[in-house]
Amino acid sequence: MSKISTRRFLQIAGLAAAGLLLSACGKKEEAPAPAPVAAAPAPAPMKVYTAGTDAAYAPFESQNEQGQIVGFDIDVVQAIAAKAGFEVKFVNTPWEGIFNSLAQGDRDLVVSAVTITEERKQTMDFSDPYFDAAQLIAVKADSKVTKFADLKKLKVGVQTGTTGDEAVTKLLGKNSTNIKRFESTPLALTELAAGGVDAVVADNGVVGHYVTNNPGGQFKTVSDADFVPEQYGIAVKKGNAELLGLLNTGLAAIKADGTYDQIYAKYFGAKPAAADAPAATAPAPAASR
Ligand code: ARG
Repeated sequence: MSKISTRRFLQIAGLAAAGLLLSACGKKEEAPAPAPVAAAPAPAPMKVYTAGTDAAYAPFESQNEQGQIVGFDIDVVQAIAAKAGFEVKFVNTPWEGIFNSLAQGDRDLVVSAVTITEERKQTMDFSDPYFDAAQLIAVKADSKVTKFADLKKLKVGVQTGTTGDEAVTKLLGKNSTNIKRFESTPLALTELAAGGVDAVVADNGVVGHYVTNNPGGQFKTVSDADFVPEQYGIAVKKGNAELLGLLNTGLAAIKADGTYDQIYAKYFGAKPAAADAPAATAPAPAASR
């Protein structure tokens, strides 16, 4: 956007310069008229919000070869910003401490496939939900695991502080040494490949994406109806009603005009389950199958 306003400025300045030339040619003795550029109201600069995202969670957020942060979440927030009239700067932010960065004011929003939970709602505010999710298990292709309860006696990898961590902690027990916690989900999945853990539990979109894109069919996914339905929301600092309002207005607009569906299809190939439908009755996202 700043490019557009720069171009506009140059256009106005160009007109002003031409005007000066003309008046200079026509009536040489008169003082040049004041440049109109000074009077032209400068377009108000757009507000730039800083977004924190743990960009190791494809296809929601990851870094491409050029180091740019890309993904479903990024496209959704960019589209929201375009509708609501603000700009966003995405900053790769480790999951550990990502919510603290909101509280500290280092980030204005967090978009990071964040599940809206009652506990998190105590310390931050969430936009309306924009994606339905659930946990999904990744195991080696020859694994005997067929359901979540089968993980009870196995070594399970999770990303620290995620809803996957929560689910596994509940099943294996708070003090279980079989829970292997990693600072990112890719690290947990690498450990699965290396044989250091027997399973990884994480969001279905991410586990599905990993297993599908892993050559050689080394892994498979196992779903379980016992996993509670989850919904992603964009988090802001508690009380930031201004930004929350913009996010919700923009989200409603991109859902209404088909932009959301286009972004969804780009990443998941299928029509979205209505993100605002009651989570319990919403069909599982395509990526889990
Ligand atoms: N949805 C899960 C949660 O909120 C995991 C999100 C992890 N996101 C990420 N970018 N690493 O706990």
